[in-house]
Amino acid sequence: MIKLGEIVELQTLGDSRGGLVVAEAQKHIPFEIQRVYWIHGTQAGVERGFHAHKALRQAAAVITGACDMILDDGTETVTVSLDSPRQAILIEPGVWHYMKNFTLDCVLLVFADAYYDESDYIRDYNTFIRSTKK
Ligand code: TYD
Repeated sequence: MIKLGEIVELQTLGDSRGGLVVAEAQKHIPFEIQRVYWIHGTQAGVERGFHAHKALRQAAAVITGACDMILDDGTETVTVSLDSPRQAILIEPGVWHYMKNFTLDCVLLVFADAYYDESDYIRDYNTFIRSTKK
């Protein structure tokens, strides 16, 4: 059972030359990775996300910089500060989430287990809450 806002440790192979972090599917990231996208150059004060997925599994890591991720499963809400390139946060289906407090240098890398599919999104909070009561 994956807990809300669960963090996974990635493989760190850094040495005196600098950092090296590895994320392997089914090993550090608990699913097959079919899509990767990243959010960068986020402007000051921007909050984004504000949706849940019906089936998509995702994991997100900040490669540089920091941001906060708020996750809400309809019962509980947690805020996780992401500031380490050595960790990823799991975003499971049925979790409303959004991001805020992006540093200007933040690069948020996201691994997803499926291609982009708008029909998998729940973008209305009331619809999300209703879906959690079924
Ligand atoms: P959106 O999911 O709304 O971003 P955020 O959740 O951070 O606010 O994505 C912005 C736009 O990009 C939206 O029209 C959907 C589109 N999009 C794709 O086409 N493919 C993708 O892989 C992603 C993540 C978004």
